[in-house]
Amino acid sequence: MTSIDPDLLERLIGSARAIRSNAYAPYSRFHVGAALLAGEEIFAAVNVENASYPVSVCAERNAIAMAVAAGAASGVRAVAVVSDAETPTPPCGACRQVLFEFGGPGMAVVAESGDASARKSWSLDELLPDAFGPADLDRLRP
Ligand code: THU
Repeated sequence: MTSIDPDLLERLIGSARAIRSNAYAPYSRFHVGAALLAGEEIFAAVNVENASYPVSVCAERNAIAMAVAAGAASGVRAVAVVSDAETPTPPCGACRQVLFEFGGPGMAVVAESGDASARKSWSLDELLPDAFGPADLDRLRP
């Protein structure tokens, strides 16, 4: 797994925690903050729900979009997720796939409970083993 400097990791988790209250989650009332580390830069975002429920977007995917828009997505190394839950919230399946596209199997994923009493860490390949990714498409190209 990609190793992240401990101070930087604390900053990453702090960014996810700080932005969580901006989540637009009037339907689930489940507020999520995610902070993506790309190079040395942090991109923090929240979940944004919609009255048309399936259109809602998770915090992790919004953070990825920010890094892509900033031209920083090639350096994605880690993501931190902080929700309201009593236990750490791992990224959903759709987000795992999107994270894999940019972070690859070694990406560090850390989640912290709402009250900061519990933390869990994984590498992305633990959450999404044998992932389908860009390399699989390359194999099909002549
Ligand atoms: N959600 C996230 O933003 N990230 C996760 O890792 C899990 C779920 C959001 C989606 C929805 O707005 C709300 O949390 C409840 O599922």
